[in-house]
Amino acid sequence: MGDRDPKKDIYILGIESSCDETAASVVRNGRDVLSNIISSQIDIHTVYGGVVPEIASRLHCENINGVIRLALSEAGMDFSDIDALAVTAGPGLVGALLIGVSEAKALSYAIRKPLVAVHHIEGHVAANYISHKELEPPYVCLIVSGGHTHLCLVKDFESYEIIGRSVDDAVGEAFDKVARAIGLGYPGGPKIDRAAKDGNADSIDFPIGEVRDRPYDFTFSGLKSAVLNHINRANMTGEGVNVPDIAASFQRAAITPLVDRTIACAKERGIDVVALAGGVSANSELRRRMKEACEAEGISCCYPEPVFCTDNAAMIAAAAYHRYLAGELAGLDLNAAPNLKLGMSLEV
Ligand code: KG4
Ligand code: ZN
Repeated sequence: MGDRDPKKDIYILGIESSCDETAASVVRNGRDVLSNIISSQIDIHTVYGGVVPEIASRLHCENINGVIRLALSEAGMDFSDIDALAVTAGPGLVGALLIGVSEAKALSYAIRKPLVAVHHIEGHVAANYISHKELEPPYVCLIVSGGHTHLCLVKDFESYEIIGRSVDDAVGEAFDKVARAIGLGYPGGPKIDRAAKDGNADSIDFPIGEVRDRPYDFTFSGLKSAVLNHINRANMTGEGVNVPDIAASFQRAAITPLVDRTIACAKERGIDVVALAGGVSANSELRRRMKEACEAEGISCCYPEPVFCTDNAAMIAAAAYHRYLAGELAGLDLNAAPNLKLGMSLEV
């Protein structure tokens, strides 16, 4: 901003409520996390086998004030100490997003602090700046969450080129659906990750999805159907379902194209840094294999600490930092944007 003292530290209070976590965090200069409060609703949604949007909205409403208060007190601050507020404006569940957006606008008005609107997925990418203080664009980023599977070139802090994406299910969605089919329940990703450690990834030959003439795109629907067919056959023949083997074999078939295409993309573009982002980047096997593949090619590999891979508000505050510096502020007419696409500018 024009009259900003460049030597002054910038403290941003981030707010996240796009799905089933109510979160608030104070972050200094887009990198240093002073507090990171996450109120998870997982236990309640588990009863229903997935996120129930109406319940999510109600719980955000009940918890958001307490979560923000805690984030400030853990950072040893009050509202007067922060420079700006940041909130996830989209994509996500509209009712859930609206709680965070309304809260942030009300606070911005009441405490007279500027507001920055953040794209949830840009937040996931920015989580890497927290865990890797030296990381700067350009780098290739594999974004893998419950709703996104995107291979991007991050050209600058706010500029993305989308190189590939899933043409059907997001990879996190595939983890969740397969977990449900083999009886592991919700949330599926971490349960498959755990079960796969006791299984043999060579035991079942699941297909690796390819999209014709689009070498950097992904498809997971064939893999998901193959798993469902395997389960039906195993049940019909009386062979029985071996949960760890299915988890390990599915996980391998899901991860292989992610690793191979990310490395191919980095090599083709001459980029020597690869980052992972989104909930699935917490997956231990994806982290291990991407690191190994990067090392073999002389590429540096980064991923956020697990707590910053899944939904949190520190990543939202981190993503807001460069927008704040550029003076890209939201007005009190900010609305939730449930279908916001990556690379689509937030209308602030
Ligand atoms: O980024 P995220 O927390 O929320 C969205 O923005 O979608 O991602 C949630 C997704 C879910 O599909 C969840 O099953 C998956 O991330 N996930 C994992 C792991 N932890 C979370 N998938 C595989 N392995 C994990 N350890
Ligand atoms: Zn997310």
